[in-house]
Amino acid sequence: MAVTGNTHGFDQQDQQDQQDQQAQQAQQAPRFDIYARIHKALRAFMADTLLRVGRTDTDDEAELRGSLSQVRDLLSACEQHLHKENDYVHAAMEARVPGSTTRIAHEHEAHMAEIRALLAQTDRVAATVPAARANAIRELYRQLSLFVAENYEHMHFEETRHNAVLWASHTDAELLDVENRIVASLPQETVGVIARWMLPNVTPAERALMLAGIRDHAPAEAFTGLLDVCRTLLPMPDWMKLTRALGLPAGPTQAIWAAG
Ligand SMILES: [Fe+2]
Repeated sequence: MAVTGNTHGFDQQDQQDQQDQQAQQAQQAPRFDIYARIHKALRAFMADTLLRVGRTDTDDEAELRGSLSQVRDLLSACEQHLHKENDYVHAAMEARVPGSTTRIAHEHEAHMAEIRALLAQTDRVAATVPAARANAIRELYRQLSLFVAENYEHMHFEETRHNAVLWASHTDAELLDVENRIVASLPQETVGVIARWMLPNVTPAERALMLAGIRDHAPAEAFTGLLDVCRTLLPMPDWMKLTRALGLPAGPTQAIWAAG
């Protein structure tokens, strides 16, 4: 960066440097980001669950059970996610850049301990006598918020530092193969949970690309199932964008498939 000798000039030069850098980046083809969509899903799942716990009416049995059930589902998804990262993403990185996953591997060990502690705490809230539930769930809310905060920072490190390693050591085709192997290894139930949090929380372009890929390569029931998730969860403008992108009428999803 050039120093021009006065603050105003420095700011202008700084701004120009930033614009040049952005123009340069815009010209480069974007690399395949293996973390992008799954981390959007996890961020949404974590945020929604934390907020739900925070507003839970502990005098309402059904509401309490629903909130605690979502906490357990979230923790299960987090556990599965970190195992997939260890087994597939870290394995690919370590094969070509030994030592590149050390920090995050240690954080995954810490996350497992935190997940176990949060599960035990969730069970304690469920078992607490009604008079003490408000205090018990407040403590769960606080601990869950720390877990979420740490995971947000953790995911940022993966999306920047880990991606830098992955992009320097793998082609996009190789990274796509890693992702495909992860997806193929997931139980159907997990795919459903991920779809529920991913589909409403990615961009319209990412969503359309995912659905088009499923339509072209997966059984018809998989496509209609995911389309149903979108129809149920998307705000109308996003639903309209999706049907336009897929060349479908914006009517009920079953009818769309039958008509297609
Ligand atoms: Fe991770």
